[in-house]
Amino acid sequence: MASSVDPVPLMQVALQYARHGEGHVEPNPMVGAVVATADGAIISIGYHQQFGDAHAELNAIQAAGLDTLGNDLYVTLEPCCHFGKTPPCVDAVIQAGFRRVFVGCQDPAPHVAGQGIERLRAAGLQVTVGVCESQSRRLIAPFEMLMLQRRPWIHAKWAMTLDGRIASRTGHSKWISSDASRAVVHQLRGRMDAVITGAGTVRCDDPLLTARPRGARIPLRVVIDADGSSLHADTKLVKSLSQGAVLVCVADHISGKQIERLKSLEVEVLPCAVTKLGRIDLHAVMAELGRRDCTNVLTEAGSEILGSLFDSSLIDEVHIFIAPRLTGGSSALGPLGGLGRDSIPKIPNVQHLRHTSIGDDLLIEADIRRG
Ligand SMILES: NC(=O)c1ccc[n+]([C@@H]2O[C@H](COP(=O)([O-])OP(=O)(O)OC[C@H]3O[C@@H](n4cnc5c(N)ncnc54)[C@H](OP(=O)(O)O)[C@@H]3O)[C@@H](O)[C@H]2O)c1
Ligand SMILES: [Zn+2]
Repeated sequence: MASSVDPVPLMQVALQYARHGEGHVEPNPMVGAVVATADGAIISIGYHQQFGDAHAELNAIQAAGLDTLGNDLYVTLEPCCHFGKTPPCVDAVIQAGFRRVFVGCQDPAPHVAGQGIERLRAAGLQVTVGVCESQSRRLIAPFEMLMLQRRPWIHAKWAMTLDGRIASRTGHSKWISSDASRAVVHQLRGRMDAVITGAGTVRCDDPLLTARPRGARIPLRVVIDADGSSLHADTKLVKSLSQGAVLVCVADHISGKQIERLKSLEVEVLPCAVTKLGRIDLHAVMAELGRRDCTNVLTEAGSEILGSLFDSSLIDEVHIFIAPRLTGGSSALGPLGGLGRDSIPKIPNVQHLRHTSIGDDLLIEADIRRG
């Protein structure tokens, strides 16, 4: 019986395919779609593959050929109803003659926000909204952040010892995690719009911050450096400009001479507002990255930048590599400096916890819970 079909497994397939677009579709959302018969047999699958290319629904409809009439469509995000880089998907869905449409979640974009669903219902289609809603919503969390808050989804990555140190007391940190873990970090970088670090890390580690091998995107490399003194002609970030641009965020009051020096290195200089403590206003940095349509950014910095981001509620997701080593030392840095919380949160402030073993290392990933 058509009505007894469980839409959840079919939406799970759509969600799984949607994720293939990760790194390729941004600043668009990842979307997946499945065309199925009334009794749940899959006819075709589509997903949004590349920014500017056909949307998921259209790919699934085209793959189904004439087999859409009277059948069902499962789509992780409300079909669009506006002309963007492609014509509105609602028109294609209506023309395909579907009987029912199952939608994962409503589109948070103000220019859609339920209007696509209304159009489908007005055309006589049966529309069910909210199948696998939390997963569908999580899938587009970076898109939603950029759309509504005009800032990127901020990932924070660090590698730490079993006793919670990201460096020894002398600042030595190469390497805490294994080659295999570091390969995972390179994959992460390869789907980011920007990789952010701090002046302290540039001075200690002279990092390159490129994705090796190259991923779907070439991240902008961003250095937070109030007085602009960490970069020189022989710094790896400067020597590798052919592999990716570098943006230095400096205090807006630094001297014209320092700005000229940085510009002569061919890095981009962004004068930023500073906090009362003379630190770069990280909200201003993220707003600028949002203006540049950065959807996902990765912070690979030391304790001070990570702590400032945490204190400013500017970490959305963490990727923590824990390696089987101990360093000890009360002056050895932990990952989150700054002010921190004054007590242990009553309710866990991370959610969607994932654990992965990478050889003897453990990767823990989670979202930071808001509110
Ligand atoms: N294990 C890991 O995953 C990992 C990753 C990265 C780094 N590390 C280690 O971390 C250590 C460096 O940590 P760190 O804390 O000194 O360096 P950091 O967090 O990379 O950079 C901190 C510096 O950024 C500048 N800054 C400007 N605005 C800021 C703001 N709003 N908040 C915080 N800082 C701001 C400040 O320098 P100015 O005053 O000069 O602007 C500050 O000293 C090194 O030992 C490195 O090896 C470990
Ligand atoms: Zn569309």
